[in-house]
Amino acid sequence: MDMRWGPKYETGIAVIDKDHRILFDLFEQTQQCVDDGEESFVLGSVIASLLDYVRLHFHREEILLDRCGYSALGAHQQLHVELKAAVELIAQRFKDHPERVGVREIRNFLWVWLSEHILGEDMPYVGVCMPRTDIHEEIAKITLADVLNEGKKRMCCDWPSLRVLVVDDNANFQRLFKTLLLAFGVKDLRLAGSAAEGFRKLAHGPVDVVICDWLMDDMNGLDFMKTIRESGDETPILILSGFGDEAFRNKACNSGANAVLEKPISANSFLQAVSGILPEAPPVEI
Ligand SMILES: [Fe+2]
Ligand SMILES: [Fe+2]
Repeated sequence: MDMRWGPKYETGIAVIDKDHRILFDLFEQTQQCVDDGEESFVLGSVIASLLDYVRLHFHREEILLDRCGYSALGAHQQLHVELKAAVELIAQRFKDHPERVGVREIRNFLWVWLSEHILGEDMPYVGVCMPRTDIHEEIAKITLADVLNEGKKRMCCDWPSLRVLVVDDNANFQRLFKTLLLAFGVKDLRLAGSAAEGFRKLAHGPVDVVICDWLMDDMNGLDFMKTIRESGDETPILILSGFGDEAFRNKACNSGANAVLEKPISANSFLQAVSGILPEAPPVEI
């Protein structure tokens, strides 16, 4: 069974295809985490992010179908409700007892849903919705913050103009951050697998935000951050860590961090954490 994205899944509606590709990408990442024997907080972060992105995609798609007057909207919405509930259940079960959730169960469910729903349920609306490019543009502007945070203006950074450096020595986390930041619209994204590489990427020019893992092999996040601060660089820094208690937060913030995000993350918690340490930006038009 070929579980990769292919032309047969393309609807031809760019915003929908972009969403579907991101869902496929997150699905592939669950596979990769399993194959790599990752710890539960890595796979948990991917599943939670997938769930957030499912919520965004369904919301976008339902507005598209509604505005285009698609006659089977009600039935399609109902399928979305059921699928969303099933993904929520898996995410919650995994969060509570990761050891009790069979990896094959997650994989099979997600695959059946992704492939069957796109091919069987999404494709039929293409004929009706394809010509309405005005609505395609409208739904492309809907963000995760609109769906999950009631569109708080504070969450609406100007993501496409943001220069972001991510330093994390875990390849699967790096891939997840890349997927999410590109999905948010970031164009200048620099990925580093170590502190040394992070310094090299910073030498290419300043960034607007640094996202850095706490525990890394060559130099940990604390020393990386201290070195940045000692150079007089006040760029906002978000630290990622498996520890999120008060004492750890204080230690990180006293060392120069602007905020700490505890793992496992989700797309929404990541979005909120990054947005929260950025200076107020003029809100983008929604
Ligand atoms: Fe759908
Ligand atoms: Fe869809």
